[in-house]
Amino acid sequence: MELNPRIVAPSLLAADFSQLGAEAQRAFSSGADWLHLDVMDGHFVNNISFGPAVVETCRQATGPEAFLDVHLMIEEPARYWEAFRDAGADVITVHAEAKVDLVAISHEIRDAGLHFGLALNPATSLEAALPFLDQIDLLLLMTVVPGFGGQAFLPEVLPKIEAAVEARAAQSLSFQIEVDGGIGVGTAGLCARAGANVMVAGSSTFQAPDMAEAVAALRAAN
Ligand code: DX5
Ligand code: ZN
Repeated sequence: MELNPRIVAPSLLAADFSQLGAEAQRAFSSGADWLHLDVMDGHFVNNISFGPAVVETCRQATGPEAFLDVHLMIEEPARYWEAFRDAGADVITVHAEAKVDLVAISHEIRDAGLHFGLALNPATSLEAALPFLDQIDLLLLMTVVPGFGGQAFLPEVLPKIEAAVEARAAQSLSFQIEVDGGIGVGTAGLCARAGANVMVAGSSTFQAPDMAEAVAALRAAN
């Protein structure tokens, strides 16, 4: 059962980096609700992707109405989140495993008028998020170990999605539940049945023969 409507968020990490602005436009013209932007610093994860300049490029290419979902896989989100606000982010998601005061950064990001997301790696228990559930707009449950696109979905995260739905209901909250990593039609259906409503997908959208068809299939997957 989904509390919130299905959201399809292609991950730019899987896009053609020689034309990121056009790729951001292609995601929305293909029916995407959000564009997911994976920021990696080479410390929190073993990869380096892009920074605020790419978020700004995507904002300029897609206009003020587009919804940019910025996933910070960085060690020090408190040091950099404002640069992503200024670049045009709508959601800023930080990892519970990062070096950050989650209460403080949640207040700062929400006071700035943005949505605040909290991400958990596959190995991190939902317990780590429980004290903060009433201060988040989005819970991102990673379904791969973060750092790279094209990895295989980790089904052991499914019970965590179900537990997050229960914890949300127990506190009468309504945050979005986002899954990210190895999401295609089959795995999106599994996650939707477990209670996730935001489907982040890189390879299965940007690298699909027909992106609009892939986005529509993720929207319909149950
Ligand atoms: C991984 C990123 C994911 C990744 C998804 O660290 O957070 O967003 O780009 O890529 P696919 O959908 O190809 O697994
Ligand atoms: Zn991501």
